[in-house]
Amino acid sequence: MAEDLLIVKGSKEERYQSLLPQVRGLLDGETDLIANLANICGALKEQFNWLWVGFYLVKKEELVLGPFQGPVACTRIKKGKGVCGAAWEQKKVLIVPDVEKFPGHIACSSLSRSEIVLPLFDQQKEVMGVLDIDSTKLNEFDSTDQHFLQKIIDLITF
Ligand code: SME
Repeated sequence: MAEDLLIVKGSKEERYQSLLPQVRGLLDGETDLIANLANICGALKEQFNWLWVGFYLVKKEELVLGPFQGPVACTRIKKGKGVCGAAWEQKKVLIVPDVEKFPGHIACSSLSRSEIVLPLFDQQKEVMGVLDIDSTKLNEFDSTDQHFLQKIIDLITF
C-alpha cells in the first residue's frame, strides 16, 4: 500500500473508520511484531495527535518499553504499577479520565491528563503487552476509543 496515511477530520468515529482499513493495509503481509507495533503507533499518532502512543511488552515479569511515538518514557513498569501495570494485572482495558485521580499513576510526562490502556493477549490468553495512549486533555477516551483500538490491536498477530 501507499506509505502515506490519509488523515481525515471529523468525528472520532469517522477518524477511526478511515484509519482502520489503512492500518489493516499496513500490517497486511508483514509478520514482524516490532515493525507492526511501530506502524500502529505512527498511524494513531498521525491521525489523532495524542501526546503519547506506545506499547510496553512483557519481559521477565516486567513491562518493558516498546515502539512508541511521543516524548521519552519510563522504560520498565512492574505488574500492578501505574495504569499499564494495573491493566496487565487485571487483564482488562482501563480508561482513566483524570490521571491525578488514579492511585499510583506513573507520570512519565507531566503533560499527561488522561489515558487508555488495552492489554494485548497471546494465544494462551496471557497478557504479552499493553497499548498505552496518553492525552493532554482530561477525559479524552471513551467506549468509542476502546471499541476501535481493540479492533486495531486485534489485527496484530503474535
Ligand atoms: N502513564 C503510564 C506510564 C507510562 S507513560 O504514560 C508512557 C502508567 O501509569 O501506566
